[in-house]
Amino acid sequence: MSQDKKNQVSRRQFLNYTLTGVGGFMAAGMLAPMVRFAIDPVLQPKAQGDYVSTGKSVDELTSEPQRVDFTIRQVDAWYESDVSKVAWVYKQEDGSILALSPTCTHLGCFVGWNDNENYPNMFYCPCHDGLYEKSGKNVPGTPPTAPLAAFEHDVKDGILYLGKAIPREEA
Ligand code: FES
Repeated sequence: MSQDKKNQVSRRQFLNYTLTGVGGFMAAGMLAPMVRFAIDPVLQPKAQGDYVSTGKSVDELTSEPQRVDFTIRQVDAWYESDVSKVAWVYKQEDGSILALSPTCTHLGCFVGWNDNENYPNMFYCPCHDGLYEKSGKNVPGTPPTAPLAAFEHDVKDGILYLGKAIPREEA
């Protein structure tokens, strides 16, 4: 009989267990969406591949750098937007493709190809007279201290796809 009494749950204990259980359940119900919301970007699968189509046929590429415009979908936490990008693309002597970023490695101005009559067949930055060779290598004695970054690229069905611009070390 005394053993039975020991195993009995008092009304106070029952209420404590019940309130703790219900309270915990409600707290979990409120916290779960908040946690999910906070870490949602981490849980999202990466955007389909890291390459985007430029719509440019590789057959149209020559040994002369061409301006190729393309658009990437940029996800910044919960904000998504389309961002316009540019690459200078050409075929090197061995036939491989080189896609250079037009962003000057000095202070980020737009670098043009062969658009200054004083510097033919070179990449020229008008902001501070920065110069780069066709390979994207910076010319010593001009402000840029590193070569132009090169985009990762891929070719699918004859179309050029571009990925991230990878900084290159000074040669
Ligand atoms: S930003 Fe290009 S040379 Fe300064």
